[in-house]
Amino acid sequence: MASVVSTVEDLRALQLERLRWSLGHAYDNVPHYRRAFDEAGVRPDDLRDLGDLARFPFTAKADLRANYPFGMFAVPREQVARIHASSGTTGRPTVVGYTRDDIDTWAEVMARSIEAAGGRPGDLLHVVYGYGLFTGGLGAHYGAERLGCTVVPISGGMTERQVQLILDFGPRIIMVTPSYFLSILDQMEAQGVDPKETSLEIGIFGAEPWTEQMRAEVQRRSNLRAVDIYGLSEVMGPGVSQESGETQDGLHVWEDHFYPEVVDPITGEVLPDGQEGELVFTSLTKQAMPVVRYRTRDLTTLLPGTAYPQFRRMAKVTGRTDDMMIVRGVNVFPSQIEEQLLAIEGLSPHYLCVLTRPGRLDELTVQVERAEGAAATDGPELGRRLERRVKDRIGVTVRVEVLEPHRLERSLGKAKRINDLR
Ligand code: DLL
Repeated sequence: MASVVSTVEDLRALQLERLRWSLGHAYDNVPHYRRAFDEAGVRPDDLRDLGDLARFPFTAKADLRANYPFGMFAVPREQVARIHASSGTTGRPTVVGYTRDDIDTWAEVMARSIEAAGGRPGDLLHVVYGYGLFTGGLGAHYGAERLGCTVVPISGGMTERQVQLILDFGPRIIMVTPSYFLSILDQMEAQGVDPKETSLEIGIFGAEPWTEQMRAEVQRRSNLRAVDIYGLSEVMGPGVSQESGETQDGLHVWEDHFYPEVVDPITGEVLPDGQEGELVFTSLTKQAMPVVRYRTRDLTTLLPGTAYPQFRRMAKVTGRTDDMMIVRGVNVFPSQIEEQLLAIEGLSPHYLCVLTRPGRLDELTVQVERAEGAAATDGPELGRRLERRVKDRIGVTVRVEVLEPHRLERSLGKAKRINDLR
């Protein structure tokens, strides 16, 4: 599954060539891009070097919605082999399309991702990501088949059966959201199964933000190596970037297919590598639905490559610009709360941030479950400890409610971390 390029110089040359093609393809075949480029006064041939990309207009989720369902396609619908869509909590879903070649590219980058995580041909791989319009299940599936794995397409849900099939089939790899994996771990423990004794060696976790503290918690409880996978439907699906199982130091962006930029979320100005901002992607090879400077709303930093020196890494995503909570003027992301609560023994990793506005100011209540082993009488003290820790480390005052185990709703896919009651 080696990539086509092995040096940064070769990669930059390939990117430039592919970027020229992709901008031309978008301009010639998608009315939205023609209009947007014309309004910005740029033409695809204005791209002389990679830095010129900054002159091209951004694309936002709203543009995809405005062109619902197939208006962003650059090929006739008959040439689209597959449709996926992301549900979106409000409004119309975002629809994406793939030609046969796109599906092939996706399988390749996913196979590369599974291999980077530590997967090998012949591995048994348990796919818990949902199959359907969500890109997780089928994306993982095609990549695993491409690598030569034996795939178990179980999809999400029926947690008892997940545990049963893990015990019976003996997978080496599991692909699942980190939050749902916690439910699987809880279920194993409830059934008297020691998660450390299963066949699982590698967990490929993504589709939602998760912290280093969560990685430590999962690895401590299960003995598997937890690695991060990132992607989004608009750009392809899972497999846009992948963490190496050996170095576990952030996600290598498969830059021969997806060109990353990090911009200031407010001004849109391109930031130098090493500075945190909003991640933006331009597709380099996609046929059915090219994207030009798509604003992911995900916050991260671009870093130099390590395990794959030619590909830059992105740091673990801290959160989405949409998930930023402003509590008395301080910006807070759920992941920061997660970091703090996992540092307190006696609290579980299951939590929810509830936002209210009782008077003129926003208030944040953190609901977190007591860990199975902690005594009910310790609840109030655990809550106070978390309140103090959040105040000391993040600088905001929150109220903590410590709930009985299993009180919070479990998700089968992406966990909901914010309940906004304002
Ligand atoms: O979640 C694709 C995917 C499936 C990725 C399975 C990894 C594994 P969407 O439903 O379009 O696609 O949601 C994309 O999820 O913009 C991020 O906000 C978030 N996200 C995905 N992976 C990660 C990750 C899939 N590793 C949105 N860390 C993205 C943090 C992630 N956030």
